[in-house]
Amino acid sequence: MTTRSIHHWLTGKWNSHSDQRHARRFSALPAADRVSLYETRLSVIHTRRGCPAAGAAGCRAGRVRSVGGHPLLDLTSIEADDVEAFLSGLGVVFVVHRGHDSGNTSAAVEIDGRRWFVKWATDPEAVSHLKSAVRFHTTVSHPAIAALRGWFTLPSGMALIHDWITGKVLNDPLVPGGVPRADPRSAFARFRRLDLRENLAAVSTVFDVHRAAADQGFVAVDFYDGCLIYDFGRHAVRLCDLDCYRPGPYILDRDRQYGSTRFMAPEEFRRGAQIDERTTVFTLGRAAFVLLSNGQRGEQARSLWRGSDTQYRVAQTATQADPTRRYQSVAELCRSWRSALSQ
Ligand SMILES: Nc1ncnc2c1ncn2[C@@H]1O[C@H](COP(=O)(O)OP(=O)(O)O)[C@@H](O)[C@H]1O
Ligand SMILES: [Mg+2]
Repeated sequence: MTTRSIHHWLTGKWNSHSDQRHARRFSALPAADRVSLYETRLSVIHTRRGCPAAGAAGCRAGRVRSVGGHPLLDLTSIEADDVEAFLSGLGVVFVVHRGHDSGNTSAAVEIDGRRWFVKWATDPEAVSHLKSAVRFHTTVSHPAIAALRGWFTLPSGMALIHDWITGKVLNDPLVPGGVPRADPRSAFARFRRLDLRENLAAVSTVFDVHRAAADQGFVAVDFYDGCLIYDFGRHAVRLCDLDCYRPGPYILDRDRQYGSTRFMAPEEFRRGAQIDERTTVFTLGRAAFVLLSNGQRGEQARSLWRGSDTQYRVAQTATQADPTRRYQSVAELCRSWRSALSQ
């Protein structure tokens, strides 16, 4: 990687989908160099946005874009860990999510007619994932990602502030009113009863978001149908909970990566394996099967696939067990998918 390309990237000029060259060079750097470059880039971005501290981890609080004086976005820290009580003092808390494996609690709050989604944690591992979310969202943006607007600290943790997304999460039995996806009343079952074109459009959006992430050197971690919120009124899918996405390639230092088995590549079950963009390709192929197969777990039998033969071949190639037999980049998967849609 040349000094010039690093400079371009650090100053935010390396953003275009076309600039795969820098992405590849960046991916080839040793992990420690990549992490340190990310930290530098974050500090450049934060300084520009008026947050003087360096890096996501070092930055006590921040906001992604200035929106003028605001009771929630102006927060840098609050004095007690009870975020729910605090939010109730600012506006009307209308949903609270508890009991997730993540260790996070989250709440939706309406303040002066606008809705926000606030997620917080005090457990150190959960807090580390929220910091990782800041790193992701300050680097990757896409209209279909539930945007991060700011973050603040609590005495023992931190909180993220996202836009509130209208719609139903496709798989989260813990949400108030949620039922398992096998239940015909579930959001998942309802999604799959939609016109095939709508299902295909949702798959395309999911691919497109991951292309934006891959362009910035990020690989998917823990992506599943619980990250998809579908707005049945506007026929639009949005992605949430991308907190564990991280710069890749990386070496898996656990026996199993976080995530739902239905979406995970074989290498995510092997300590010491390299996880890279091709792992994301596998996860996306599985997402296509989960959203487009008539089976309950995204079964790959041709007889269950609701799309065309060409679309089926794309999803099959993406989900080859051997990474060298998959598409080698998310961009390549997207190109094949687009061409399959137009046939
Ligand atoms: N930006 C958002 N707007 C509205 N609802 C959201 C948003 N993000 C997440 N949710 C809902 O809140 C639930 C919990 O959020 P999530 O980000 O998955 O938390 P966790 O990290 O605890 O898994 C999700 O299943 C989804 O239903
Ligand atoms: Mg979740």
